Amino acid sequence: MHSFLDISFVSKSYPTAAGPAVIVRDFKLDVGKGEFISLIGHSGCGKSTVLAMIAGLTNATTGGILLAGREVTGPGPDRGVVFQSPCLLPWLTAFDNVMLGVDRVYPHVSKAERRQVADYYLNVVGLGDSLHRKPGELSQGMRQRVGLARAFALSPKMLLLDEPFGMLDSLTRYELQDVLLSLWQRDQKTAVMVTHDVDEALFLSDRIVMMTDGPAATVGEILSVRFPRPRDRKQLLEDPEYYRLREQLIGFLEERSHRRPESRSAPPAPRPDHSDTAHPLLVV
Ligand SMILES: Nc1ncnc2c1ncn2[C@@H]1O[C@H](COP(=O)(O)OP(=O)(O)OP(=O)(O)O)[C@@H](O)[C@H]1O
Ligand SMILES: [Mg+2]
Repeated sequence: MHSFLDISFVSKSYPTAAGPAVIVRDFKLDVGKGEFISLIGHSGCGKSTVLAMIAGLTNATTGGILLAGREVTGPGPDRGVVFQSPCLLPWLTAFDNVMLGVDRVYPHVSKAERRQVADYYLNVVGLGDSLHRKPGELSQGMRQRVGLARAFALSPKMLLLDEPFGMLDSLTRYELQDVLLSLWQRDQKTAVMVTHDVDEALFLSDRIVMMTDGPAATVGEILSVRFPRPRDRKQLLEDPEYYRLREQLIGFLEERSHRRPESRSAPPAPRPDHSDTAHPLLVV
């Protein structure tokens, strides 16, 4: 598959008094257009760091990221980011919060069309009756619906989601997974999502990228999830293949995540961050 997002031997380290602390090392992944990828791994391994580098919110120390053939050098409207809880302005209604982004990204489109876009996505996520409520008058799940509507309304090339449903109870989580899947399918978006939840990853993804434990975390194993779409949660739970994949994920997280994968082909450029120098954090 032609790669739409090309993450090439990306490393990230932070300077510390004892030398650079290598958080992520030689992370390599090609994502096809329209693919749904989940990143899973133990807490603190560097999942959010990888996502933040794709978002352009932090720079890679070495390596590079190409999105649709262009190098990622900073944040931009071509990448919609959804975090655990959306950043909404409390004095604006759900509708105006979405409009704020739409106005900024589409200043040349007529006001009527911009309003239509905001209205459309808020309806799709199920907030048609709450357009004019302020965040304080919405539940956490409803606020996250606003966050999803806003992300899709800005029509980004891809979506980056960092545990978007991590703070929700499981019923609301299921509802919003369905909302996300239907939006994703409707708009044919490319998505990279960080999650801790193996069932969420299996339900949503085309591939699940399992990260090894940090420091110097990297891609451990990649699981292809080939259930036909649209997916039905109940049907999936009756499929023995589902449990086979689930076992593989849990097996990796419980046993294999602490091992680094067999040595990969060397990165093309030398690493100026001296990440191989002896450092307590490097003892893996
Ligand atoms: N600005 C920073 N300076 C130094 N170390 C940092 C910085 N930001 C993150 N780290 C370290 O990088 C590591 C990875 O953090 P990251 O937030 O990417 O993990 P994560 O996999 O998303 O964890 P979680 O599942 O808990 O969200 C952590 O050990 C963290 O302490
Ligand atoms: Mg995180």
